[in-house]
Formats: sequence, C-alpha cells, structure tokens
Amino acid sequence: MSHKGEAYSASGAIFLDSPLRRWIQPPSQLVEKLAISPIDIVMDFGCGPGFYTVELAKKAKRVVAGDVSAEMLKKAQRKAVKAGVKNVEFLLSIGIKIKVEDGSVDLIFLVTVYHEVGKGQMALAEFRRILKPTGKLVIVEVVKKGIFPGAPVQNPEALGAEVEAGSFELQQMQLYKNCGVFFFTKNSSP
Ligand SMILES: C[S@@+](CC[C@H](N)C(=O)[O-])C[C@H]1O[C@@H](n2cnc3c(N)ncnc32)[C@H](O)[C@@H]1O
Repeated sequence: MSHKGEAYSASGAIFLDSPLRRWIQPPSQLVEKLAISPIDIVMDFGCGPGFYTVELAKKAKRVVAGDVSAEMLKKAQRKAVKAGVKNVEFLLSIGIKIKVEDGSVDLIFLVTVYHEVGKGQMALAEFRRILKPTGKLVIVEVVKKGIFPGAPVQNPEALGAEVEAGSFELQQMQLYKNCGVFFFTKNSSP
C-alpha cells in the first residue's frame, strides 16, 4: 500500500460527510454487516468526520474513534454530540503506539483509510496488539471504479496478501457497492 501522507483532497473531504454519500452508502448498511454486539469495543480507525462513528456507537458498548487529523476528530466529535451518543472516545493517532490497552478491542474498522496509512505493517502490528484474540479487523477499500473522490481503486488480492503478511487471516471479502469489505481475524501465530 502506498502512503499518501498529504491532507485529504478538498473534494474528497466534502464527499466524506455529504448527503450524496449518505444516499449512495447509508452508513447503517455497512455497519449492519459487522454484526456488532452491545458488549463490543469498536475502534473506528481513520474516522474522518465521523460518517460511521455514530452508527457504530449506536450498536457497540464503546467506540474509540481515532484519526491523524485533529480537524477531522473535531468534526466527528461535533457529529457525536449532535446525535446524542456518549459512548465515543476520540483519539489523535497515526496508527503507531495507539493509546489503547493490549487485547482490549473486539473490532477495528477502517473505511478507505488503509491505503493512506503509512508503514502498513507497523500499523498492522498495532492493530494485532490491541485486538482481543477473537477480534476482527474489517478493512473497506474501493475495488471497482465508481463514485468515491480521492480513494484509489485497490487490487483485492494484493490487499489481502499484504494484511495476511501482518499475521492476519482473510476470512471473507464481500462486495458492497464499488467497495470490498475484507474481514480478517488474527492468525494463530504468536
Ligand atoms: C478517506 S478518509 C475516510 C474517513 C472515514 N473512515 C469515512 O469513511 O468517512 C481517511 C481518513 O483517514 C485518516 N488517516 C489517514 N492516515 C491515517 C493514519 N496513519 N492514522 C490515522 N488516521 C489516518 C485521514 O485523516 C482521514 O480522516
């Protein structure tokens, strides 16, 4: 995966929390696929303006919403306040040394974030550390051309192989709109 490192494009940032996106991809549709239980601790990594954060918070016990951008976190926080959800913790993070305890998270959810995360294997090691042994890593990336400004089309096989190289096992990949929803578990190696 290539790391872009630069700020998200203006058109991309507008799309992220737009009525158009809400119409094309209602956040509840994707969140439904995650089968979150009310006792789950969920990390919305690269939460952006919180498009999915509020939906996750309605299903989970607690959500940790992390992002490298303080500006995005502020937007997500405002959205959570407006929606009246109180079980979200906001965390400034780049994916290295995430301030979350070992083995404490049930699900890590990344929507069009993985391709932006630098040092992919370092972030994967962190995800592995904070996930419970039974935890799931769900990565959503664009895999077919369609509407999603700023998000490049990823090769599903390459993505699966890269994450598996970080000691995860791909359980399934579901197509959703023009995205792939990749469900990984930790593999059994130490
Ligand atoms: C395309 S946006 C997606 C936001 C959100 N997941 C959504 O679907 O609306 C990507 C987000 O990932 C964040 N990001 C990129 N690299 C990151 C990193 N290394 N650590 C944490 N967040 C990162 C960006 O700041 C941006 O908010």
